[in-house]
Amino acid sequence: MINSRIIGTGSYLPEKVITNQDWEKRLDTSDEWITTRTGIKERKWTTAEQATSDLCVEAGKRALAAAKLNPDDIDVLITATITPDHAFPSTSCIIQHRMNMRTIPAFDIAAACTGFLYGLEIARNLIGSGRYKYIMVFGAECLSKITDVQDRSSAVLFGDGAGCAILGPSEDPQRGILSFNWHSDGSLGKLLIQPGGGSRNPASHETVDKRMHTIQMLGNETYKHAVSKMGQAAVDALNAAGLTGKDVDVFIPHQANLRIMQSTAKRAKVALEKVYITVDKYGNMSAATVPIAMDDAVKDGTLKPGSILLLDAFGGGLTWAAAVIRW
Ligand code: ACO
Repeated sequence: MINSRIIGTGSYLPEKVITNQDWEKRLDTSDEWITTRTGIKERKWTTAEQATSDLCVEAGKRALAAAKLNPDDIDVLITATITPDHAFPSTSCIIQHRMNMRTIPAFDIAAACTGFLYGLEIARNLIGSGRYKYIMVFGAECLSKITDVQDRSSAVLFGDGAGCAILGPSEDPQRGILSFNWHSDGSLGKLLIQPGGGSRNPASHETVDKRMHTIQMLGNETYKHAVSKMGQAAVDALNAAGLTGKDVDVFIPHQANLRIMQSTAKRAKVALEKVYITVDKYGNMSAATVPIAMDDAVKDGTLKPGSILLLDAFGGGLTWAAAVIRW
């Protein structure tokens, strides 16, 4: 199978900043609680006019520039999101049109916070088949649009943003995605759910009154599964690549909670200083956290050609996945 590597990244974050002090004014919470329990200091939120595709188009332009490609070069477009512009048409089709791409296959995937990693694995296999050369994978969310702003236990966690990675074939077999594992356990779906708006509970006055269109999370239970499942996925991905935690130069876990990220690093035996952190400034952006962190790490020089990068994510579904990449 032809191996693939990430040849360009891009990201876009909305301008509006919501600080912990802003939440102190709205809810019975404190900067101290949010910082010590989650590591979050601020997050970016879209305006009422902005939707997920708007963020993606900007992130996509930046990724194309980084990869030195044109929209015409892209063969497949995948967007991981649980906050699409609409249930249909897909956000990917909206991006395909707005970026003037050819009539390439374009589709969305919903695996919550793990969505971007799921997208990477799909792209890797499509490139591996030899039938497609360049694939654009977005992880993008406007979680602010489905946040219950009256629920202090979840409102303070979420942010908006879009990240994009372009994958292409790797001429050097030593470079690129070295190992990957991905999982799900639907029996735990109720831990993290947006109950309203689908075919189970179609939109009605009642679903709106009961706030069923917002994220509902059993934080404590979710936390325990996140630590154990992300830890195991990281260990398995390292083993499959013939590496250990000591070989990791940069660890980018899903950015939901600093304590989860640190516990996962310990389980994978990765030094804490290798953990790349953005949760303090962006909060939890679900599928967008990993690609945005990757783009930040490229821009600030943390990720260099040859770096061993460990990616690890966990989210609603439940879903989880990990990958080892030689950059
Ligand atoms: N400010 C002040 N107090 C609060 C707040 C707040 N914002 N939120 C909750 N509390 C209180 C609770 O009411 C509770 O009070 P009580 O003891 O009087 O009942 C106390 O703080 C402790 O609450 P816990 O829920 O036990 O707090 P915990 O330490 O578990 O932190 C958190 C909560 C941050 C949500 C944590 O559980 C977590 O990060 N969970 C995992 C999140 C995650 O990984 N999600 C997956 C990805 S998201 C996705 O897929 C979209």
